[in-house]
Amino acid sequence: MNSIPESVIVVGGGENEEHEVSLASAAAVAEALQDAGYLVDPVTIGRDGIWRLGEQVLGQTPADSLTAVLPALGHADVLFPAVHGLLGEDGTLAALCALTHTRLVGSDLRAGAIGMDKGLTKLVAESVGVRTAPGRVIAAAEIGAIDFEGAVVVKPVSSGSSYGVSLVQDAAQLSDALRTAALFDRRILIESVVRAREIDVAVIREADGSCWAPPPLEIHASGVFDTDTKYDGSAQFTVPAVLTTDESAALIRDARTMFDALGCRGVARMDFFLTADGPVLNEVNTMPGMTAFSQVPRMFAAAGVDYPELITRLVHGATVPGPVRQEALRGTT
Ligand SMILES: Nc1ncnc2c1ncn2[C@@H]1O[C@H](COP(=O)(O)OP(=O)(O)O)[C@@H](O)[C@H]1O
Ligand SMILES: [Mg+2]
Repeated sequence: MNSIPESVIVVGGGENEEHEVSLASAAAVAEALQDAGYLVDPVTIGRDGIWRLGEQVLGQTPADSLTAVLPALGHADVLFPAVHGLLGEDGTLAALCALTHTRLVGSDLRAGAIGMDKGLTKLVAESVGVRTAPGRVIAAAEIGAIDFEGAVVVKPVSSGSSYGVSLVQDAAQLSDALRTAALFDRRILIESVVRAREIDVAVIREADGSCWAPPPLEIHASGVFDTDTKYDGSAQFTVPAVLTTDESAALIRDARTMFDALGCRGVARMDFFLTADGPVLNEVNTMPGMTAFSQVPRMFAAAGVDYPELITRLVHGATVPGPVRQEALRGTT
């Protein structure tokens, strides 16, 4: 059986545009765990792929770094990957934990990779009856040849924090939007605009395997919920969102359906538009923002689970990702 974890490696930073956001998430998580009495090793992945353990720079190349960090990974009870976006949330760190048999907070490689891909997320969602906005994925190389009618949102298939996302209201704006998105991904999603309230739903899988969702949260943004609004403190949230019982039930049902379809672990945040015809899934975050002021902790606080309690529960629910291991089935580990 899994022992009660005592030591946790908290990884922050990462090599993508959400580096700073990840640092903030990781610092908050590390502090909460330290305060709760855990032995915490803070690890940072630089924008250049060089890892640091505390202040100590590990190696001179990413490969040397990884080699140097592996012993720490081998000794820690749990890894908390507070790295949003590519080379983190996309399953990369989950893969490292699978290969080293390290217990991980959050989703495995498959859920992380699909959740990070807005095109694949759409396919999964539609296949389990969760609606998404009509859209299509194009290769950045096809940029010259797009037919387009009406307003669309153009976004990188895999990005975060609204980087590279544009609202295009007439054809003249399209090429700039495509070029902007192409700075972040080789694949670009062109999607119909959904004009509706934006509601986030969190789902958690606890250590005992039970899953539940705290009250949803509404984001008040005029137009696109853009990068500046996300981090300049001007974002307005209402939690619990003001919803009818039916609206709330439909949102939570769809969020849980996606959580299960992807096989998520730990906590995931599903972001919806709430239209007159019900929820439309916008995107899935398998490692959502995790400071005390981020959406997910706010939703749990509204359910009576405060920030230290949430982080501790996530650590307790950590499991070794990867294939079902036969010895675990026999209960010998
Ligand atoms: N199809 C859409 N219709 C209307 N607004 C959208 C649409 N897609 C994205 N947005 C707006 O852009 C914001 C960022 O897009 P999103 O897909 O969530 O990217 P990110 O992963 O960077 O958060 C959303 O919060 C929403 O305000
Ligand atoms: Mg988003």
